[in-house]
Amino acid sequence: MIIKLIIFFLSTLVVTLNLITQRDTPTDFIKIVNDSRYPVGEYDVVTQDGYILKLFHIPGDRSRPVLLMHGVIDSADTFVLRKNTSLAIALANAGHDVWIGNNRGNKYSRRHQYLDPNTDREFWDYSFHEFGYYDLPAIIDFVLDNTGAKSLSAIGHSQGNSIFLVLGATRPEYNERIRVLVSLSPICFLNNLKNSASQILKLLPAITRFLSIIGQEEIFSEDTVSARVFRYICGSKKSYSFCAHEIFFRLAGSDSEELEADFYPAVVAHYPTGTSKKNAVHLSQVGARRTFAEFDYGFRNLDIYNSTVSPEYDLSKVTMKVALLAGLNDNISTIKDVTLLRNKLPNVVEYNVVNHKKFNHIDAVWGRNMHIYLFPSIFNILSKHG
Ligand SMILES: *[C@@H]1O[C@H](CO)[C@@H](O)[C@H](O)[C@H]1NC(C)=O
Ligand SMILES: *[C@@H]1O[C@H](CO)[C@@H](O)[C@H](O)[C@H]1NC(C)=O
Ligand SMILES: *[C@@H]1O[C@H](CO)[C@@H](O)[C@H](O)[C@H]1NC(C)=O
Ligand SMILES: *[C@@H]1O[C@H](CO)[C@@H](O)[C@H](O)[C@H]1NC(C)=O
Repeated sequence: MIIKLIIFFLSTLVVTLNLITQRDTPTDFIKIVNDSRYPVGEYDVVTQDGYILKLFHIPGDRSRPVLLMHGVIDSADTFVLRKNTSLAIALANAGHDVWIGNNRGNKYSRRHQYLDPNTDREFWDYSFHEFGYYDLPAIIDFVLDNTGAKSLSAIGHSQGNSIFLVLGATRPEYNERIRVLVSLSPICFLNNLKNSASQILKLLPAITRFLSIIGQEEIFSEDTVSARVFRYICGSKKSYSFCAHEIFFRLAGSDSEELEADFYPAVVAHYPTGTSKKNAVHLSQVGARRTFAEFDYGFRNLDIYNSTVSPEYDLSKVTMKVALLAGLNDNISTIKDVTLLRNKLPNVVEYNVVNHKKFNHIDAVWGRNMHIYLFPSIFNILSKHG
């Protein structure tokens, strides 16, 4: 029954009537940081394939840049939602030069030099592969040029880590530009998802086939009836016991102390944000094939890869230092899957299971007490390996 409700919600979210109206310039990030009285800058970074990405900056010690990358259907906002107890602000407080990226297609990066996201389907022809192969090199080169530093430290949340693995495997020269990757709730293998999360993964192919039939390439974007309905139903404190428990907690693991009713509407106001259908398909392939491999194009694989199956990402080429931080109560990035990842990576410098039994998939970004039981380990890793 509950699973049916989740599916109903997800499908109303996903199946969208695109009401393309005028989009106002999103400045949530700037506003939150400015309200916390920090100086904040914004830049446009252009990728090799023409996407225009928004990159935010909270200035600090330029010899120690740190780049934060968000997870799936998320944006830079996720790292500042908790204001002075958010990761980006805590890093700025500690004197770091903090850069916060946005992948192509999300609400801040829905722009391209010549493709129109509203009319050109080609704009949406990407998955997390392109986040790693095109977006990260453009962002990293920009930060290094701007600061004059030779390398930077990186912190990823969830899929924000998969993209660094893609980068290290497909463009190995970038490994030396990363001092250390602090990998929060890392996603790579999806072999051992728990309960609801695994059921959603199994349903994704059916949902995405349906989207193909109706010609929908963009999912979870802001200006859709479904996103508005979701925000209308789940956007207030009153809906907490239903929406937070049945959606967020079921999928990610539950801790109502860390994502409390007072704060929860701020999450719904900023999450989800848009991505491509292809990204959802690629993630479901990773789960179904139990391999971390490039996008599976079916019969076109032979033309594209000179092989009938899409190639696995070669994790032995990811030579950057990686510190893995996982949670016992994380039903998406499970200890089993993170351990598989650790065994494949050549340069894991730390593997910490966060010392808080209820630490789950969303706490690293939205949890109330992260400045107490997560950030100190991050600072430690940065000072030891960064
Ligand atoms: C930032 O905050 C200051 C007050 O602290 C205000 O004067 C200024 O207009 C704000 N800037 C933006 C871009 O919101
Ligand atoms: C955050 O700001 C609030 C009010 O502005 C203050 O009471 C609190 O002590 C601050 N917390 C931290 C961790 O800096
Ligand atoms: C997460 O998975 C565990 C173990 O399978 C399960 O007991 C728990 O109920 C799941 N959490 C949620 C919120 O569904
Ligand atoms: C394609 O794969 C075959 C067999 O693995 C190999 O002999 C051939 O050289 C490859 N072609 C190209 C263009 O890489």
